[in-house]
Amino acid sequence: MATNNDAPSAAEVAQAGVSEAQIAVHWREEEYYPPPPAFVAQANANDPAILERFSEDRFPDCFTEYAEMLTWDRKWDQVLDTSDPPFWKWWVGGRLNACVNCVDRHLQERGDENALIWVPEPEDAETRYITYAELHRRINEFAALLRDFVGAKTGDRITFHLPMVPDLPVSMLACARLGVIHSQVFGGFSGTACGHRIADSKSKILVTIDSYYRNGQLLDHKKHADEAIAAAQAEGVEVEKVLVWRRIPGEYHSDSPMVEGRDFFIDELLDGYRGQTVEPVSMPAEAPLFLMYTSGTTGRPKGAQHSTGGYLSYVTGTSKYYQDIHPTDTYWCFADIGWITGHSYIVYGPLSLGTTSVMYEGVPTYPDAGRPWRIAEKLGVNIFHTAPTTIRMLRKLGPDEPAKYDYHFKHMTTVGEPIEPDVWRWYYEVVGKGQAAIVDTWWQTENGGFLGSTLPGLQPMKPGSCGPAVLGVFPVIYDENAQEIPKGSGKAGNMCIRNPWPGIFQTVWGQPERFVETYYAKYCKNTDSKDWRDWPYFSGDGAVQAADGYFRILGRVDDVINVAGHRLGTKELESAAITVDEVAEAAAVPVIDELRGKIVEMYVSLKPGNEASAAVEQKVADAIDREIGKIARPKNVWIVSDMPKTRSGKIMRRVIAGISNFSDVGDVTTLANPEIVDEIRHYVQHEKLERGETPRELSEQEKQEIAAYGHAD
Ligand code: WT7
Repeated sequence: MATNNDAPSAAEVAQAGVSEAQIAVHWREEEYYPPPPAFVAQANANDPAILERFSEDRFPDCFTEYAEMLTWDRKWDQVLDTSDPPFWKWWVGGRLNACVNCVDRHLQERGDENALIWVPEPEDAETRYITYAELHRRINEFAALLRDFVGAKTGDRITFHLPMVPDLPVSMLACARLGVIHSQVFGGFSGTACGHRIADSKSKILVTIDSYYRNGQLLDHKKHADEAIAAAQAEGVEVEKVLVWRRIPGEYHSDSPMVEGRDFFIDELLDGYRGQTVEPVSMPAEAPLFLMYTSGTTGRPKGAQHSTGGYLSYVTGTSKYYQDIHPTDTYWCFADIGWITGHSYIVYGPLSLGTTSVMYEGVPTYPDAGRPWRIAEKLGVNIFHTAPTTIRMLRKLGPDEPAKYDYHFKHMTTVGEPIEPDVWRWYYEVVGKGQAAIVDTWWQTENGGFLGSTLPGLQPMKPGSCGPAVLGVFPVIYDENAQEIPKGSGKAGNMCIRNPWPGIFQTVWGQPERFVETYYAKYCKNTDSKDWRDWPYFSGDGAVQAADGYFRILGRVDDVINVAGHRLGTKELESAAITVDEVAEAAAVPVIDELRGKIVEMYVSLKPGNEASAAVEQKVADAIDREIGKIARPKNVWIVSDMPKTRSGKIMRRVIAGISNFSDVGDVTTLANPEIVDEIRHYVQHEKLERGETPRELSEQEKQEIAAYGHAD
């Protein structure tokens, strides 16, 4: 049994002189992987002169290179206006329309090429190929409906609660055409969560769908609209119309009744708008394009407000240089458009560049773990983009599947959380067949586009590190006292960005004080200053910078487990656990401890074909000893059949933290697998009592800390 009996006490650690810095240093440096020569030869960015063009002394003008990738109705007068910090304005005086940039401007040369390829989840269902001309027609018809039937006007907000169907990008771009601000709520969120976001943005219109396929089932989705409307109503916001796409036009697969005068089938209404075109509205560069609500643990939801010109230029530029998108590529970002990743890197960035963007409706492992590779083979996907959680799942269930399929990726992306080096290597060797350049892109909903990544044709990859900052972005790591932590010191601190960039969100919708307070107050040097240099952006992530300038992101600062005054990054612990061959997934949680403040417990799930055993538990504990240090040795290692996860695949650490502490697990209704919670609770708490670990009543503050643990909700 793995226990922490031989882990040192705080006093012992102090005596032995082990510091936080040394713990961070224990995280072994990984070897570089050079980008494959065939990739470099064709890369959009393969001339080192680009690094010069974006050097710090060229800021902010360097970003005109991104703005010039767009088609403007009127050119900007000023690149960056800093007169009202930290509310930065990019491309002031410029006017453009995002829909024109993503669709109309490609019609002449690429009208017959595919803009979107949509793969429904049922494998025998027909793949849909949507050309730029077809997309243009559909957007115009829906825009006409929004304008004439709904009366939507420039500046209004419309909420979508849609899954991965082509109607979603059509709806987004129809809004963009009219200058209407869209707010897409992830389809997997509950009706109530959607309702809070409707209320916060004061949307009068909800766009939804009757049903969609997920994991082999046609799910009733329209029912969530009724909950959403009730929740919004409770907050004083009345939804006037619900527009309902139908997954199978003409059929209705929901138990929710259509409410007369409120609910309308879009396919029926569209009959009245066939062939209509809508003049795109020329928008000021700083006009909001959309809201994207971020995960917050408590309080009012936070709507990140993104701009038209700044955002679109940033996602276009980064899609070109970091995703290496050429118009002739077949690009598949396997994420959900309900997240910022999908907005930036399924819809706006790729379409702005006129490429073919693939969308898949369902789960990665339906009907089996070979599905993504069959899709890639069939469609000739050559750029693949997904998250570590998907990669781990595919590795767990189908470690040898990729080799069975004849596809060729030139480029792959990982995004959303730190990737364990072992998982990275499987991605590189098995999924990428050793031939693809990988970018590990670090950024946030608030950022619009990538902040940390290697330039794939110019900078070598290093597993587990996102790489240096992207072009034109200049980070700094600060300690709690705003002292800079130098690179190569092995010390972790708070990851901040010294300068504004065009993709940065404009504000938290309706809560400007919260915007300043959350992201700028902590390290602002002078609140009266109008110089951007005095306003570093606080990301909330912990990071360590190696001597070579590469950043290793440790996860959210609030996910750190503080053992006897030593901050252990959740991800360091999990990376160590996953070096054990049998382990597929790992999650570290803090347990309140009389002596050390907190101690670590590990939860792991195993790759198929492995049995839970004391030997595996021991191996996990030993791996953490070895990779990080005895201070981090877990009190217990729990082998579970699966982790509690959100619909987007993030492990809900607060749930298992609640179990380990005999505390509340909180709301579990949004989990993809709520049934696992009782199973884990029963096993873990029973074992703990057997081992004589009697639970102690936690203080209110301790309870709150456990409930807030983890970012995934
Ligand atoms: C948080 C942001 C990025 C868009 C999708 C998620 C973590 C994101 C990485 C990465 C290490 C990463 C950070 C960040 N994160 N990408 N490549 N390496 N950590 O957006 O939901 O706003 O989450 O995800 O902790 O703050 P989000």
